[in-house]
Formats: sequence, structure tokens, C-alpha cells
Amino acid sequence: MSDSEDPEASATIEARLREQEYFRPPTKFVGQANATDPAIHDELDEFPDGFERYAELLDWDESWDQTFDGSNPPFFEWFVGGKLNASYNCVDRHLEERKNQTALLWEGTDGEQENITYQDLYRRVNEMAAALRAQGVEEDDVVTVHLPMVPALPITMLACARIGAPHSVVFAGFSAQALAERVDSAQSDYIVTIDGYYRRGDFLEHIEKTDDALKQTDRDPTVLQWNRHDEAKADVDDDYVEVDSLLEEHALETVEPVSRDAEDPLFLMYTSGTTGKPKGCQHRTGGYLAYAAATSKNVLDIKPEDTYWCAADIGWITGHSYIVYGPLALGTTSVMYEDTPDHPHKGRIWEIAEKYDVDIFHTSPTAVRMFMKWGEEYPESYDFDFRHMTTVGEPIQPEAWLWYYKHIGDEDAVIVDTWWQTETGGHLITNLPALDDMKPGSAGKPAPGIKPALVDDQGEKLPEASGQAGNLIIERPWPSMLQTVYGNDERFISTYWEDFSDTDSDDWTDWNYKAGDGAVQAQDGYWRILGRLDDVMNVAGHRLGTMELESAVSEVEAVAEAAVAPRKDAEKGEVPDVYVILREGVERSDAVKADIVGAVEEEIGKFARPANVIFVDELPKTRSGKIMRRLLEEISNGEELGDTTTLRDPSVPEQIREQIHGD
Ligand code: WT7
Repeated sequence: MSDSEDPEASATIEARLREQEYFRPPTKFVGQANATDPAIHDELDEFPDGFERYAELLDWDESWDQTFDGSNPPFFEWFVGGKLNASYNCVDRHLEERKNQTALLWEGTDGEQENITYQDLYRRVNEMAAALRAQGVEEDDVVTVHLPMVPALPITMLACARIGAPHSVVFAGFSAQALAERVDSAQSDYIVTIDGYYRRGDFLEHIEKTDDALKQTDRDPTVLQWNRHDEAKADVDDDYVEVDSLLEEHALETVEPVSRDAEDPLFLMYTSGTTGKPKGCQHRTGGYLAYAAATSKNVLDIKPEDTYWCAADIGWITGHSYIVYGPLALGTTSVMYEDTPDHPHKGRIWEIAEKYDVDIFHTSPTAVRMFMKWGEEYPESYDFDFRHMTTVGEPIQPEAWLWYYKHIGDEDAVIVDTWWQTETGGHLITNLPALDDMKPGSAGKPAPGIKPALVDDQGEKLPEASGQAGNLIIERPWPSMLQTVYGNDERFISTYWEDFSDTDSDDWTDWNYKAGDGAVQAQDGYWRILGRLDDVMNVAGHRLGTMELESAVSEVEAVAEAAVAPRKDAEKGEVPDVYVILREGVERSDAVKADIVGAVEEEIGKFARPANVIFVDELPKTRSGKIMRRLLEEISNGEELGDTTTLRDPSVPEQIREQIHGD
């Protein structure tokens, strides 16, 4: 957002920035930051008691007796014996001091707007909680929530939390089939959804996904339907319960927040892994909320008087922890935006930043690359002034970092990159903005109390700060780690623990959490994340399992065999390419390609659409018949092929290369 400069001066500044390895946080930022004392790292290193400082940010109905129970690894428990309610902590406790302050600032499509104060939020959460109860939702019932970026979403989440019903939010972009799968997996008897929402100014029907999902599940869930528009009320299917009239029935009712055990689940969040079925990551109430609040405070530097905007979707973990739970636990004003960044024009984000005088801005490297492609003239046309900016989801290349720093931050804001996962609940590797110098391209240092390490494939630990690449593990538990994979403890152990732990040991120190990412720790102690080492892709910051894509593609009649591999993409980071062997006698055609793309949209959602469908005669397989996706990836990226000695037919990569690059 700098003034227009003459091109020569600008080129000199860019050259200077490029040469610089570290950037100091601006003095004016340091002067006002929440975390300014480096001792925070030592304090949190006192394991586990250091984490009590995090729990103390919350209001507890009953204090805990034991900070950490590691006696049954890897089923770790936090703040054992403590009792609290998440909705009370995010809403009720702020009423005394700031009931008239805006809690949620919602910007809809085309400038529609809602300012929901803490008092309004209290009202609406209570009414929704009463409505859910009246529909039979009891404590510990899983409520599936399929809502887009409208106030109904955080209100429903907090209403569930109030009555102790874990929510399972399914990102609105997921298809009917993906929704049905998650309803089944969570054995959920309730779906909360909405008639529709806006995309690029057009009304998008959403309820039909629930209609279709109901045909694909054997369960018979009660459907509660919100309405984006008053006019649509008349259209609510007789079988569905209209939320708006329920709310009228329960107007002004209050519901006592249910006192939950710290270890009671707060929510499930399904995420992709290395098998065809997504896993329901189960998060606990006390440890999760404590860690989300503390990192919102120390990493995002949120203060109650701030206007904070995380431009993610609440349907992913980023929105759970850093639009809803963390920021609201701190009593700040959190912005929500319904539509896309380019509607109705490419300056929309900066227009909103100016309109609400946003102080802290959180986005993804994919978005930064997109803003960069659109050009600095868009941010330059608006008057906004961020104090703090963060990124999440994928590594940010130094070039994109520098652009963000210069054109969005005006070389005057601090930037932190935050590495974490759906499973980790909150940031694990990230700088504390006032304490560490920024280093473009690096995720930063470990968050206080977090002990990452690197091991080789045999599980041997690499020396610290060696600059060698290895498997990223976390050696010590932390309060917001997932409790388990919902209904599948075995999968929890085999996915995250088995590879790098002594699974016979009762001593928690013998257990290491496997992140699934590769990483390097440089000599200066900063960590760089290299990306997934398993069959999980990162497409525009969204996580996709290759197996899930492959199983969708295999549904197409014409397909005999399919493999999916990521291809590097300048904007999205990675995109999925599908390699397909067709059945005998089927012709290669655009119609078959369209069927394949359609199958992915139907089973997962439009956001997972393959970038390319490539017809091949053979797939690269080992002698034991395993597809070597790594080779496909190397071929599509035009890279040198790694080890091919285990291939059954060593001529296959060359054939595929010709098929891709030849025509
Ligand atoms: C995977 C987790 C947690 C919020 C969003 C994604 C990648 C995440 C970074 C980062 C490099 C990152 C990793 C990780 N990732 N943040 N700052 N730098 N890579 O959550 O969908 O659970 O995906 O995203 O590969 O394992 P998710």
C-alpha cells in the first residue's frame, strides 16, 4: 500500500529487500505487543506446568487437579478434572465489560453487512441453543454443520458448544456425497444447513446438497435449515425444520452453559489422510480452547480493541481456531466475509480492510500470490494500515513474502508464518512477532512449549539445526493436540504415532507425534517446512488425499486404473493431475475427461477438481504392484527422475513423459 514511486527507486528497494535475510519487527509494533518477554519460552518449557498459563486465560467452572496426564500414551489428557464451557468463554464472560462491542463483523456479498455485538451474539447463541435442545439435541450428540461464511455458522457452533454437543463442521464446498460420508462416520443425527449463499454475487443453491446427502446415508438425521433470505422461508421442505421460526419460538430464552469436562470433545473436524476415507480429528474442550486463545494472544497479537480479520473459511480448522474460538475467547472483533476476493472487483479485500480499519490480517500464501498477480494497484487504491499480518497453509516463497511485506504491509507491519495442522489445533511452529526477526521463506521458531525434531526414515534423530531434511515430529504433547480419530483409536495410533514411537512403552517420552511433513532446521534455529511426505496434497492451502481422489476417479465406468499426483503450480502451490488407464475398447475423449472431473466434483467437491486428466497406457509400478506416484510427480514437474530400480517396467516413465510433453 505504498505511494506510487518512480520505477527506478522501486527497483532499488526491491533489490535491497531481496538481499536481506532477516527483517526486524518495527519498533512501534514491539512497543505494543502482547508477548514481549523472551522468558515466555523458558516458562513454557517447564513441562507441563507452563501450559497452566494458557489455561488461566479462560474462565473455569472448576479448576483442574492435574495439568497433564501422560499415563496412557498416546491418549494424553490435559487439565484433568477441570470444567468449563467454550461458549461461556467466548461470549458470556465478555458481557460485563464489552457487551456493546462488535464481536462478529460480517460483510456479505455486495456490501451487505451485519455488526453482531457481544450482547447480540449472546442472544442469538442462546436462542439457537434452545432451538437445538428443543429438537432433541443432547449433550455429546454430534451435530453436523454444513454452512458457508454467514453468521449462522459461528452462532451454530457456539450454540452446540453451549449445550455440550460436539459440532462437526463440513466445509460448504464439500459435495453431497462428502457430507453424507461425514454424517455416517460421525453417526450424526442432526444436520444444520442453509438454503444458499452468494458466490460472485450469484445465489448458490446449497440445500440441495443436503437433499442428495440424505439419499446416500442410511441414517435419518433431523435437518435444521437456516435461510439466507426471508423470502426463501416459504421454500423450506416439509421434512426440514425451519431455523428462523424455531428461533422465533425460543426468542429471549436463555440456556445455562453446560459445564463440560476439560477432556470432553468440543468438535470434530474431518481431514484428508493417506487412505480413501477422511478422518474425524477429535478436539477436546479445555486444552484446545486454552491453546487457541493463547496463540491468538501471543502469535496473532490480538487485543480486545482490535479489528482482526482472518480471511479463511470457518469450514476449515483455521477458521475454527482463528476466526471463532481464539479471537472470541479474547473478546476481540472478528471479521467474516462471505464472497470471493475478486467480487465485484479485485480491490475488494482492501476495500473491506479500509472500511473496517482492520488492524490484523491473516491469509494464505496462495492468496498472496494471487494478489501479487493482480498487481499492487489494487491495494494502493485503498487506505488501510495493518499492524500485523500472518500466513498459514503452505510455505511462503521469499518473493511472495517480500511483495506482501512491501505492498500490503508498507514495510511497516510485522509478518509471521504459522505452521500447524487440523490435528494440532493451533500454531506449533511460528515466530512470536515482537521477539523474533522475520525470515522470508521460513516458518520460524517453535512456539513456546513446543518441541519439534527431525528424524530420518529409520527414526534416528537428526542433529539439531543441522540443515538436513528429515521427517518432522513433535516430541512433547501440547494441550490442543487431537484426542483421537473419532471412533477409530487404531487409526489414530497408526497414522500419527506408530512410525516414530516406542509403542510398547508406557512412558510418554517414548512417543513422538508424526506430522507427515518434511522439514529442515537451519543453523540459526529457524524451521523451513518442505511439504507433505505422504500421499496428501496441498492445493491452494486445502488438503486433499490422493487416495480420495483416486477412489472418486475409479468410480467412472471407463476407467480401468487411476493414479493421482501433484504438479507444481505457480499460483495454487500444487494441483492434482489424474493419470488414467482406460478400459479396453474405450476411446480417449474429452467426454471421458469430463466424466472424470465430474466424478471428483461429485464425491468431494468442486474445489478438488483435477487440473489435468492424462491418458496413459501404463502406470509406473514396483514389482510388488505399488504405484510410484513420486515418479509421476517428477515427470509432470520436468524433474530428474529419482530411483527407478524397483520399477517392474523401467520404460514406463519415458512413455508417460512422451505422452505428457510430446503432444
Ligand atoms: C498441512 C496441514 C493448519 C491450517 C491450514 C492447513 C501444510 C500448514 C503451513 C506453513 C508450510 C504448511 C503442511 C501441513 N502447512 N501450514 N505455514 N508452511 N506448510 O491445515 O489442512 O490440516 O493441512 O498444511 O503440509 O501438514 P491442514
